[in-house]
Amino acid sequence: MTNTPIDFNTVSTVLNEFKIADLSNATIREIVKITNTIEEKTGEKFIRMEMGVPGLNPPKIGTDAEIEAINKGLGSKYPMLDGVKSLKEETSKLVKNFIDIDVNPAGCVPTVGSMQGGYATFMLVSNLDPKKDTALFIDPGFSVQKVQFKVMGHKYTNFDVYNYRGKKLRSKLESIVSKGNINSLIYSNPNNPSWICFTQEELEIIGDIANTYDLVVLEDLAYFGMDFRSDISVPGKAPFQASVAKYTDNYILLISSSKAFSYAGQRLAMLCISDSLFHREYPNLKERFGVASLGYTVIQRLIYTFSSGVCHTAQYGLAAMFKAANEGTFNFVNELRDYEEKAVIMKRIFTENGFKLVYDKDIDKELANGFYFTISYPGFEGAELIEKLLYYGISAISLKSCGSERTEGLRACVSQVQREQFVDLENRVKQFNKDFKVS
Ligand SMILES: Cc1ncc(COP(=O)(O)O)c(C=O)c1O
Repeated sequence: MTNTPIDFNTVSTVLNEFKIADLSNATIREIVKITNTIEEKTGEKFIRMEMGVPGLNPPKIGTDAEIEAINKGLGSKYPMLDGVKSLKEETSKLVKNFIDIDVNPAGCVPTVGSMQGGYATFMLVSNLDPKKDTALFIDPGFSVQKVQFKVMGHKYTNFDVYNYRGKKLRSKLESIVSKGNINSLIYSNPNNPSWICFTQEELEIIGDIANTYDLVVLEDLAYFGMDFRSDISVPGKAPFQASVAKYTDNYILLISSSKAFSYAGQRLAMLCISDSLFHREYPNLKERFGVASLGYTVIQRLIYTFSSGVCHTAQYGLAAMFKAANEGTFNFVNELRDYEEKAVIMKRIFTENGFKLVYDKDIDKELANGFYFTISYPGFEGAELIEKLLYYGISAISLKSCGSERTEGLRACVSQVQREQFVDLENRVKQFNKDFKVS
């Protein structure tokens, strides 16, 4: 098929120039680069589904508060390592109001995005006990987190949860952690890339396993509140954001401001370290970092040496948003519903034209519509599908690169796709379906 929506020869030339042998191993940034190059050369606009950049403006409450902090001259002052007091207090209230858990403000610690929160906590859990030298990812997951482990030289293992939902999760986890070398369980919920959300039963299983085997759960809530099937937006009232924190005290939550508060550019997230972990002492931390306390190590050793704290003024912006959310004057969930609406439309366009959803159920419930969904097309493996779709002006990343065993699948992100592009998307997907007829 050479009569493609995007000039066939240009796409072929660019792909040859990049010399990526297997596009299912390409990083998000590589796909971004390839797509930018094709767009530049052809002047055609792509349906950009590869990168999870927030598609919304930052809330005015946040930017106003940050501007005020800038105007006060805080830009010249080093922030405290453990964070601005008001942000710590509002975060503690936020997790009470929207997760229904109690975390002391001391354990609410800002990081330079959850990227840094991940790096710090991955380093932490890898150094708690010399016998427990391996982290366990409940995959699929955010691929760069595994790159972080590789950069640090610490070990991880992983499995795709696709075939182990519900009760089956317990025996699968037990079969791995019972070997005695696992230090932590890591996952995001809602999940990047699959948008599955663990049920209460599954979270309880994860919590039980963490208690039994004394593991730390690193629960990545980058998409806090974005399981739109359950509206958590009323402070202090059920339903709440589902969390393992209901079932274990061995948790550290990572709450990114990037997606839920459209603040990605300010690089700010919160670690919420359970009170018991925050104060817990580990002989190996003492040996490795000179202090035994977990909370002290995170703040005074890791955050200190990584970046000496977090952008001072951005913390005031986030504190203002959290305060307004806590007081019920800022419904951050409603702000995000645009993603839900776009996901409904885009899923329809793909599934009406021969594509299948790869991860499609939370046990017996349809998946939520949100930031990501996953697709495949009969007869294609992921690498080939990424390549073919580029000729049709659509960019996405492979599920394989996210630790998924569903190597035929791609992750589609809705955020960057404009509503005005839905017509183009539909035409391109229709032509794809016509050109590659499913027999
Ligand atoms: C699951 C997950 N964790 C962490 C991050 C990184 O968040 P931040 O922008 O706060 O560094 C992302 C961003 O896409 C993500 O999807």
